Amino acid sequence: MDNSWESLKNQCMTCQKCDLCKTRKNVVFGIGNPRSEVVFIGEGPGEQEDIQGKPFVGRSGQLLDKMLKAVDLSRDENIYIANIVKCRPPKNRDPLPAEQDSCIKWLDKQLDFIKPKIIVTLGRIAAMKFVKPDIKITQEHGVFYDRDGTIFMATLHPAALLRNPARKPMAFQDFLNLREKIKEVCKHTYK
Ligand code: URA
Repeated sequence: MDNSWESLKNQCMTCQKCDLCKTRKNVVFGIGNPRSEVVFIGEGPGEQEDIQGKPFVGRSGQLLDKMLKAVDLSRDENIYIANIVKCRPPKNRDPLPAEQDSCIKWLDKQLDFIKPKIIVTLGRIAAMKFVKPDIKITQEHGVFYDRDGTIFMATLHPAALLRNPARKPMAFQDFLNLREKIKEVCKHTYK
């Protein structure tokens, strides 16, 4: 992989910009193909992610992988997955605004490198940062916004779908619509 990506990762892995570094086991930099046209953004690592150093590897990650597979997307191939914060907030609390603000600089640099065509946010915290600060996710999920040539879409967080399975069809429809949008605007994602 490109030097600048590796050096970004190396710097990030030793980050001490906020207090989450004191309680983390691992920095969860992100996973997938940094040459992807589609990036998914979650909130922050949970317990399993902290232990394994990879995003979305717990129960919600298993559901996410299933939904991705249904629309021919995979973290091993044609997408990249990262979080707003790279270190686990204690007891899985929401990341504090100051933690988000200092950590998002890493994500911004990752996005500068990847230059995705489509960014999909998972859950409220990521949607507030990237889509709309006052978003009502259950009402405004699945809407595509084109901003300066990058398309943004918020969908429900897989952990919320595990808590409320009746909402799975809503999120699944977002993924089906995403597949159509990818076919429209991405050249390499589906071969
Ligand atoms: N929830 C998230 O938002 N991100 C993860 O990586 C895992 C669970």
